[in-house]
Amino acid sequence: MVSMISLLLLSALFVNHLCSATNDTITPNNFLRDGETIVSNGGTFALGFFSPANSQKRYVGIWFNKVSVKTVVWVANRDNPINNSSTGVVKIDDKGSLVIIDGNSSDPVWSTNVSIPIKGLFYKLMESGNLVLYDENRGDFLWQSFDFPTDTFLPGMKLGLNLKLGTSWSFRSWKSPDDPSTGIFTLSMDGTASPEMVIKKASQKIWRSGPWNGQGWNSVPTMRSPNLNYNFMNDPNEIYFSYSVADTSVFSRMVLDYLGLARREIWDENKRQWNTFRSYTDGDCNSYGKCGAFGSCNSNNVQICSCLPGFEFKSSNKESQHCVRKRKLLCGQGDGFLKLEKVKLPDTSNATVHMGWSIKDCEVECMNNCSCTGYSSAYVDGSGCLAWFGDLVDVREFTEGGQELFVRVDAIELENSERHSSLAKKKLVLLCVLIVVGFLIFFSAVYYLCKKARKRGLVHRERLRKEILNSPSSEAYKEANTKFELPIFNLNSVMVATENFSLANKLGEGGFGPVYKGKLPNGCEIAVKRLSKNSGQGVIEFKTEVDLIAKLQHRNLVQIIGCCVEEEEKMLIYEHLPNKSLDFLLFDKTRSTLLDWKVRCDIILGIARGVLYLHQDSRLRIIHRDLKASNILLDDKMNPKISDFGMARIFRGDQCQANTRRVVGTYGYMAPEYAMDGLFSIKSDVFSFGVLLLEIISGKKNSGFYHEDPTMNLINYAWELWKDGRILELVDPSMGTSFPEQEVVRFIKVGILCVQEKAKDRPTMHNVIFMLGNETPIPSLNQPAFVLTSNHNSANASAGSAPSLNEMSITIFEGR
Ligand SMILES: *[C@@H]1O[C@H](CO)[C@@H](O)[C@H](O)[C@H]1NC(C)=O
Ligand SMILES: *[C@@H]1O[C@H](CO)[C@@H](O)[C@H](O)[C@H]1NC(C)=O
Ligand SMILES: *[C@@H]1O[C@H](CO)[C@@H](O)[C@H](O)[C@H]1NC(C)=O
Ligand SMILES: *[C@@H]1O[C@H](CO)[C@@H](O)[C@H](O)[C@H]1NC(C)=O
Ligand SMILES: *[C@@H]1O[C@H](CO)[C@@H](O)[C@H](O)[C@H]1NC(C)=O
Ligand SMILES: *[C@@H]1O[C@H](CO)[C@@H](O)[C@H](O)[C@H]1NC(C)=O
Ligand SMILES: *[C@@H]1O[C@H](CO)[C@@H](O)[C@H](O)[C@H]1NC(C)=O
Repeated sequence: MVSMISLLLLSALFVNHLCSATNDTITPNNFLRDGETIVSNGGTFALGFFSPANSQKRYVGIWFNKVSVKTVVWVANRDNPINNSSTGVVKIDDKGSLVIIDGNSSDPVWSTNVSIPIKGLFYKLMESGNLVLYDENRGDFLWQSFDFPTDTFLPGMKLGLNLKLGTSWSFRSWKSPDDPSTGIFTLSMDGTASPEMVIKKASQKIWRSGPWNGQGWNSVPTMRSPNLNYNFMNDPNEIYFSYSVADTSVFSRMVLDYLGLARREIWDENKRQWNTFRSYTDGDCNSYGKCGAFGSCNSNNVQICSCLPGFEFKSSNKESQHCVRKRKLLCGQGDGFLKLEKVKLPDTSNATVHMGWSIKDCEVECMNNCSCTGYSSAYVDGSGCLAWFGDLVDVREFTEGGQELFVRVDAIELENSERHSSLAKKKLVLLCVLIVVGFLIFFSAVYYLCKKARKRGLVHRERLRKEILNSPSSEAYKEANTKFELPIFNLNSVMVATENFSLANKLGEGGFGPVYKGKLPNGCEIAVKRLSKNSGQGVIEFKTEVDLIAKLQHRNLVQIIGCCVEEEEKMLIYEHLPNKSLDFLLFDKTRSTLLDWKVRCDIILGIARGVLYLHQDSRLRIIHRDLKASNILLDDKMNPKISDFGMARIFRGDQCQANTRRVVGTYGYMAPEYAMDGLFSIKSDVFSFGVLLLEIISGKKNSGFYHEDPTMNLINYAWELWKDGRILELVDPSMGTSFPEQEVVRFIKVGILCVQEKAKDRPTMHNVIFMLGNETPIPSLNQPAFVLTSNHNSANASAGSAPSLNEMSITIFEGR
């Protein structure tokens, strides 16, 4: 492994060393004075002397060379600065160590402490920000700054333990923003049982990540983000966590600041600031052991602390409340386990770990040992066993993510809980019966009244009603008047219709799970969206989707015709549309020739009307939040229909913008304020619509758009063409040459207007439709949003779909 990395680094090194004219190295023959810098080969990092703001002291450090606000990532002599003078020099001494020397003094203020022959040695600043010592005689690295981190965790660095050498890779904060000397906070790996990242203030733990759950850290629920890859290594030689960045044009860092906050940040050159992408340690429940032993913290509750089942607050002293057992636990006398879901697992430092075990083995082990207080699967896939033999400390409840924890409770607690759940079941049954009876009474009443009405000769009015319903402009009427009873399909009939969910019937993989084609006994074709069991979508999200779609009716929205909830299965049944989704036609060279300008224009207008309906015309105000080509289905007449409302959220009319803790959506279509800050509004849908419009006209995907310049995306490309007055070059060649140029240009212009950086510069859907349809002056365009580029297949992945390593959806949890 290590030699692999060395090899890779080596080849990079040689190539650079031979071809490069930049001064990125320090050799025995040259040195670096205060005021001079060396710059890595691609220009990303620089090394030299610096003084922090409000300080006279001189430090040698590495900083981002292309970030316009000096951001230091590493400091060599952090605890031994040169005082108040610019007489410092960096050079290689006669033992091969890189040293910092003040003027003519012979004692270095800092040294890499190596001792080897200096022939063939050089120190080189790599593009990763790593300063390495390379020995041409041995062909190896002998020292690297990545092994001596300060407060910044860069891609390629490690956080962990080198068990072979007994050393660690850990991060120490600065003392203050003006003082890089070793501060009080440490970010390190606790490897005693199941490895966890921890932040300590001096020797006191103040935060822990929870154990590694096979996909991420237990308390950082969705770590996946489009541009980052995570790597966790746990073998007898080393335990470490590291990450890499797919798009290196995005500057990204993780920093432990002088207040002990750990943040992941991305540089925003437009605003000239570091945007916090995720803050790990904010919020009350993040502070270690907030609710004491056997307590549980939930930041959504008014009173954030509660006790685990079987425990209660000791009430004697209100100030120092802590959780104690309600009753003495009589081991082996009817005691057992209660399950908690979506929790941050307790501190594992005294837990036992058995990676090969199943959860059943785990239960047996814990049951048979009276000092065992709880257990859980180690990994989210259900494998491995963690068992606790003492206090359960630092448990949290999440609304999403987390893992299951089984807590040992006494016999009475167990009995009560069982009684509770059976009582709840009984109540549910009773409720259902009441509802059914209610419906029966209601329908017989309706039936009776109708009969009576007909008898009175009101047939005429009924005919009128039918006429209105069938007239083309009756959407609003229908919406207001049609009362649904959404048909519930049973699992069996769905399985028959889809031939047992056969692969041949699979239409694709949408958000939350696969979609199958089916045929009902009456010949009707249906599309069945089978929500994956481990999609993370709960009953509530499912209901949201069903409720929303069932209430909405519009020519440009996919019609839901039923649902199925049975056993573990949750399914939505839609009308089947024969022409598949827009991306299937649009991004294919041959199929896209089916789409001439007339068709594309109608598709764009249809989508616009559908979105307008969601935003404005339906009784609910709905923001779709995942508009993209694969969510636009086409019927046999090529009418577009918007699908996938699972992520839509009901907006009350008085709210125009909301901040969400969870960002869902698809990379490449997300507005910058949504992707970065989780702010969504109807204007973020307008942004996605703009991207979609440009894609429909160009036949190219926004993300994964490769021109000569790989950092270019469709938006940037369109903007460049616009500025150069060559905008018609954007038009998809498959569209042929005969199209009304004026109109196409107007459409593109509206598209660019929709992707403006600032939400307030983007039009509403109402304006969009007006501008598309009329020769009106269009506001002048500004530079559109800088959009993070990402991998080419990103359009297929949708947030909330089953987790996979390549998932491009972005989910950000703030304030965790
Ligand atoms: C290296 O090059 C940069 C700019 O190219 C220059 O500012 C700097 O002084 C040079 N450093 C040395 C040690 O020559
Ligand atoms: C700077 O000053 C501090 C205390 O005033 C002293 O301990 C340290 O040695 C000085 N550093 C140098 C390089 O002279
Ligand atoms: C540092 O240098 C400045 C001017 O060069 C001087 O005014 C100041 O007193 C010096 N401070 C120390 C601590 O030597
Ligand atoms: C360092 O030594 C040089 C000559 O060896 C001398 O000219 C210079 O003044 C000295 N600088 C200091 C700060 O002592
Ligand atoms: C080099 O050795 C000195 C003295 O043992 C030590 O204080 C310093 O931290 C070491 N430097 C590095 C980079 O390890
Ligand atoms: C783990 O055990 C040690 C030693 O008994 C104890 O000091 C510490 O509090 C325990 N940690 C937890 C989380 O229970
Ligand atoms: C229970 O588990 C603890 C911790 O693993 C162990 O020290 C103890 O010997 C076990 N007791 C029994 C009866 O197995």
